[in-house]
Amino acid sequence: MSKEANLKASDFGNDFLWGVVIAAAQNEGGYKTEGRGLSIWDQFANKQGKIKGSATPSVACDFYHRYKDDLLLVKALGFKVFRFSIAWSRILPLGIGKINQEGVQFYHRLIDECLKLDLIPYVTLYHWDLPAALEKEGGWTSTHLLKWFSRYVQICTQEYGSKVKNWIVLNEPMGFTSLGYMIGKHAPGKMGLSNFLPAVHNAVMAQAEGGRIIRANVPHANIGTSFSCSEIIPATQNKKDIEAANRIDILLNRLFIEPSLGMGYPSDGFALMDKLYLHNKAWKFTERMRFDFDFIGVQNYFPVVVKYNAVIPIIQASDINAKTRKVPATDMGWEVNPNSFKNIIQQFADYPGVKKIIISENGAFYKDKIINGVINDTNRIQYFQQYLVALLKAKNSGINIAGYFAWTLMDNFEWSEGYHARFGLVHVDFKTQLRTVKQSGHWFRQFLAQ
Ligand code: BGC
Repeated sequence: MSKEANLKASDFGNDFLWGVVIAAAQNEGGYKTEGRGLSIWDQFANKQGKIKGSATPSVACDFYHRYKDDLLLVKALGFKVFRFSIAWSRILPLGIGKINQEGVQFYHRLIDECLKLDLIPYVTLYHWDLPAALEKEGGWTSTHLLKWFSRYVQICTQEYGSKVKNWIVLNEPMGFTSLGYMIGKHAPGKMGLSNFLPAVHNAVMAQAEGGRIIRANVPHANIGTSFSCSEIIPATQNKKDIEAANRIDILLNRLFIEPSLGMGYPSDGFALMDKLYLHNKAWKFTERMRFDFDFIGVQNYFPVVVKYNAVIPIIQASDINAKTRKVPATDMGWEVNPNSFKNIIQQFADYPGVKKIIISENGAFYKDKIINGVINDTNRIQYFQQYLVALLKAKNSGINIAGYFAWTLMDNFEWSEGYHARFGLVHVDFKTQLRTVKQSGHWFRQFLAQ
């Protein structure tokens, strides 16, 4: 039998944490329910042509009303951990000012339900859904951001800290600063360096400050933050391609973790980093950008192959996509490459300050077809099998990897892709909200039971 078919959850040890992830804006819906304020995604979705199929997150999976049943599914699939995010605009509809008690109570009910079912909650404080009212004041580019975010974190940790011990400060800061404030593909749709540079710095400051607030308010907290990361592979061994790959590595992998480790911003002579440093007077903040995280959340979906490209401004680099290279890819066009998953985990583990790694997201979109009520997503099963074999190799090589959380429980609002890009272990019919466990969900259940 193949290594993949032989794999069992128990190979990872009894303490290994198996989890599944969702995010508020992608799952909850209830966008105006019980006092919730609008988020930047509610607004962005109403701008024409920004989201495939003109989709909006207004209803999504209606998790707000169906969370009890959905948690039963998490339990039935055999996961121990449930990672979800808090919608800032449910707690503070305007981002600042008055607290919305009904929103606060919703997360109490959700957390209580997790605990009742013996699911360990991992709470993400920010998964991309800034209150729209704060965006009017500059959002992540504002010099007030840190103050706004700190108050929100104070409130969440004081409310839930006696029940929730595991916290993730930010979800993929490179994701929301680059897509939202540099290339405008995600909410709030802003572009250019004058937005990107301050947004990056505020996110770096917020991730550390968030960590400090959790530490102060939550006894015995297990504090992490999550990073998107991709192994960067130079297209050739030519000097120019290697240098281009290094620039992309700085942006995609090093930019947010290194300041948190007290190393300041990475540079290696990359002019953009010098701009970032000067723009934000970053020499003043090296200490404040640092926080001693208990774990690092590594989120990996694909590697990136990079070549030098003189016509691309700022980075002078471009990627060669999976289709051009004729390598296996998901329906997102993302290369399937389990070995690169192992390599990027190693790259993050190699930082002396990283104590523990949790794979806080990994998963795949494939076009699922329901045939007679069955979703035979063999390709997704194979994806997970191959990635888990690579993960076990990484773990057995001595890296302290404490858990693996699959993205995602159920098909949901996939940002600018709308509802067509389905990553779930559970299929959702968005007309009826009917949930159907895919074969990959059944596969996970069997895998986790062994
Ligand atoms: C994000 C998720 C997203 C997933 C798939 C991650 O970058 O954290 O919100 O749905 O990737 O694109």
